Amino acid sequence: MKSHINQLIVCGLLFTGATFAAEYPVDPQSGLIMAPGWELVNYQCNACHTSMIVTQNRGDKAFWQETLQWMVDTQGLWDLSDTWEPTLSYLSTYYGQVEMDMTIFRRLPIESSQLPPPVKPAVKESQ
Ligand code: HEC
Repeated sequence: MKSHINQLIVCGLLFTGATFAAEYPVDPQSGLIMAPGWELVNYQCNACHTSMIVTQNRGDKAFWQETLQWMVDTQGLWDLSDTWEPTLSYLSTYYGQVEMDMTIFRRLPIESSQLPPPVKPAVKESQ
């Protein structure tokens, strides 16, 4: 029985390993996920700033379109012409909107009964 359990564990580990291997690696130089379309971003989005600025952002297609359009309009980014669609598709897929669980950032307020007593005003030392 015990050996069956061990076999199951080994199978499980092999399966998990295979799943991870199927995911895309991250390019150590740019930090970009090497999924289809990543070269477009690697070639076009490193010229003026580090690609870290790309990987630190998240948003849907509309967000990325607006961000890139702002760069086209004001920062001298060239028209992406026929690479607009694959670039936006790559960005919104691999750097897409995330639902943030805001509760991880801040604790709930403490019950007033649990709060420490108010700090007493400092007593002036007589000299
Ligand atoms: C012609 C220059 C240029 C190119 C090429 C360029 N950018 Fe930018 N980008 C800028 C400038 C300038 C800023 C503002 C930098 C700053 O605030 O430090 C910026 C900022 C950003 C920001 C941050 C926006 C924000 O609101 O904080 C993101 C995301 C971004 N770029 C993504 C990209 C992507 C994706 C590409 C490739 C399609 C790209 N950039 C190509 C000039 C460029």
